[in-house]
Amino acid sequence: MIRLKRFATRAGVALATALVASTAGAADTIKVGIIAEMTGAFADFGQQMTTGAKAYMKANGDTVAGKKIELIIKDVGGPSPDVSKRLAQELVVKDNVDFIAGFGLTPNAMAVAPISTEAKKPTIIMNAATSVITTRSPYMTRVSMTLPQVTAPLGEWAAKNGIKKVYTAVSDYGPGTDAEAAFKKSFTAAGGQIVGDVRMPLTNPDYGPFVQRIKDSKPDAAFVFVPAGQSAVGFMKAYSERGLAAAGIKLIATGDMTDDGVIDALGNEAIGVITTHHYSAAHDSPENKAFLAAYASIDTTHRPNFMAVGGYDAMAMIYSLVKQLNGNIDPDKAMALIKGMKIASPRGPVEIEADTRDVTQNVYVREVKRVDGKLYNVEFFTTPAVKDPGKEAAK
Ligand code: PHB
Repeated sequence: MIRLKRFATRAGVALATALVASTAGAADTIKVGIIAEMTGAFADFGQQMTTGAKAYMKANGDTVAGKKIELIIKDVGGPSPDVSKRLAQELVVKDNVDFIAGFGLTPNAMAVAPISTEAKKPTIIMNAATSVITTRSPYMTRVSMTLPQVTAPLGEWAAKNGIKKVYTAVSDYGPGTDAEAAFKKSFTAAGGQIVGDVRMPLTNPDYGPFVQRIKDSKPDAAFVFVPAGQSAVGFMKAYSERGLAAAGIKLIATGDMTDDGVIDALGNEAIGVITTHHYSAAHDSPENKAFLAAYASIDTTHRPNFMAVGGYDAMAMIYSLVKQLNGNIDPDKAMALIKGMKIASPRGPVEIEADTRDVTQNVYVREVKRVDGKLYNVEFFTTPAVKDPGKEAAK
């Protein structure tokens, strides 16, 4: 209104008409800004998340409620909170996005919380998994997992399956310390004993000396969290080179260690490794078959992992919101619809908790096996509908 009055001269009317036309043009599009690690040591995170998102769009069409869905992908590089924040600002101010999404790494997600709040931008975490992230902005939600959620069932499983003494080794940042705390809690509550712990650097780690320390303390098993991808391959190599399996020290981990994207690169040493996680490419369901086919229709060289599922389900959430809001994204209405939303995910049923905006889902215990010549995480035990215990602990 104000704008139209200001332009109420002959020339102004033409300009105002042009402005309205361009705004109307823009409003035919729903813009999704994705901040992801597209280059550097964590580049497979971005590759997986964005291909998962594109796979959903390919399978479901790129128009919803008459609006074209557009992805704007920004490369944050590695763990770079300052870059992440700047990219979020750009997406809000320059690109005028309707949603922010992405985030493989916790520090990149945390940095954007103040922007989500100030700009009232619904922000969907596709992976970053430190429990606290979603408490940092009322406009943040998460479709992936939290480390306490996927770790707690492993501590219980280990104690009940003959593992008495465990050494914990985690990457020294949010998800690692979350995993360490959750494992210690559930394992000792079920009767297990922690015989040592170590935190390892996130970037450029040399895992050899840490693995040697584990070996020297002679536990029944090592519990490990390192980020998926290159870090997991590096840890597995050290575990193998230092002869831990031969010394009878089992490896138990969150599924980040044996993610589908790199599992074949882990080699035979990985066979028998027990992990807990929310997604395996071997999950047997019609939704997973559809997901694998959609992913393969864009990328046949990589196997999709849990981060690709995060990208795919984030788009499922966005499509559902655009449909329910008939193409007009009011941020507060969107957040209200997110609370309690259910998604028929490739991993199994998912629900977004109304009070935390975080994800509730099945957590599976899996064993690495060779299936038709390739390594897979074969699920054999399910803990259904697990909430994030991290939120409970913080209360
Ligand atoms: C995270 O930084 O939150 C993160 C990264 C990689 C994972 C899991 C969590 O595999």
